[in-house]
Amino acid sequence: MNEFLNIGVIGLGVMGQRMLARLAGHARLRPVSVWDADPAAVARTLLSYPHLRAAASAEALIAEPGLHSLYIATPPAPHMALSQLGFDAGLAVFCEKPLTVDFAAARACIARIEAQGQRAAVNFALASSPGLALLLALAREDWRAVELDVSFANWPRPWQAAAGAWLAERLEGGFSREVLSHFIFVLQRVLGPAQVLSSAVGYPEDGRSAETALRAELVVGDVTVQINGKVGGEIADQNRMLWRAGGSEVELRQWFSEIEQRGRETQTPPQIDQLDQWAALIEGRPHSLPGYAEALAVQETIEALLRS
Ligand SMILES: NC(=O)c1ccc[n+]([C@@H]2O[C@H](COP(=O)([O-])OP(=O)(O)OC[C@H]3O[C@@H](n4cnc5c(N)ncnc54)[C@H](O)[C@@H]3O)[C@@H](O)[C@H]2O)c1
Repeated sequence: MNEFLNIGVIGLGVMGQRMLARLAGHARLRPVSVWDADPAAVARTLLSYPHLRAAASAEALIAEPGLHSLYIATPPAPHMALSQLGFDAGLAVFCEKPLTVDFAAARACIARIEAQGQRAAVNFALASSPGLALLLALAREDWRAVELDVSFANWPRPWQAAAGAWLAERLEGGFSREVLSHFIFVLQRVLGPAQVLSSAVGYPEDGRSAETALRAELVVGDVTVQINGKVGGEIADQNRMLWRAGGSEVELRQWFSEIEQRGRETQTPPQIDQLDQWAALIEGRPHSLPGYAEALAVQETIEALLRS
């Protein structure tokens, strides 16, 4: 089990760079080839990682012999077409969230994955978190209500300031797709399908920029969920989930890095390595990564929140 698993990376912006840095520390996953529609992004990447090969196009990268998996870190619009190319070449595809805003293309992709047994997963990092494992370990029927609060002093956040304009625009970007989607994924994995009861979204008047406020009420499974999100305030990037059960509660803050249990004390399970899960996906072993159907269900909830 020590042989390398060769990765091709498409999309070399903020997230592509972060993933390349993480992959550098993994024993088996080995990025070998990269491509980005922007030649400057390719050039910058080769300066940092001179051993990588620059492909001539997405198609050329995907056709390279010896590749095991494709990682897609472009903005959402090309995710489905690039996934299909990856499947054509028999690659395991690991795609960034949000899956897509094109639901018809996503359904076609999912039908193909199911019919052909293609290997595909989406990068919701909370899938490997101790916080999610803790929520799954507690009795599902105990949950009564969940509160989810997110706020950002500025959108995009400073660490994503170098991302393309798409992230600040309402067609593909905004904090709901970018951040709320992680927590909707957790809610749906623990509780089941979601139904949006009400949602009030605030947009800037320019007709183009992404949302600056979202207040919503959902039922997920049979649990009421209140969401309060906004751009504003002093704190750069803040998130908090409060899960209430009868007589106890669990509060998870800052991407589940801080977990507080009140009225109960259940041992928090250990962290799972997200990259090891990716290796398992490639090798056809069981893993905890969300598939495309699970990610589409998340995105359907997000788009319903934004439409309301
Ligand atoms: N999992 C996470 O925690 C997490 C965090 C941040 C971003 N993301 C996601 O990662 C993806 C990329 O985000 P980012 O912040 O890196 O954006 P970015 O704008 O910084 O980078 C995107 C890159 O993709 C390139 N690109 C655009 N269209 C392309 C195409 N058709 N083919 C090849 N390259 C193309 C751009 O030139 C750019 O270099 C988005 O889906 C985003 O939501 C995920």
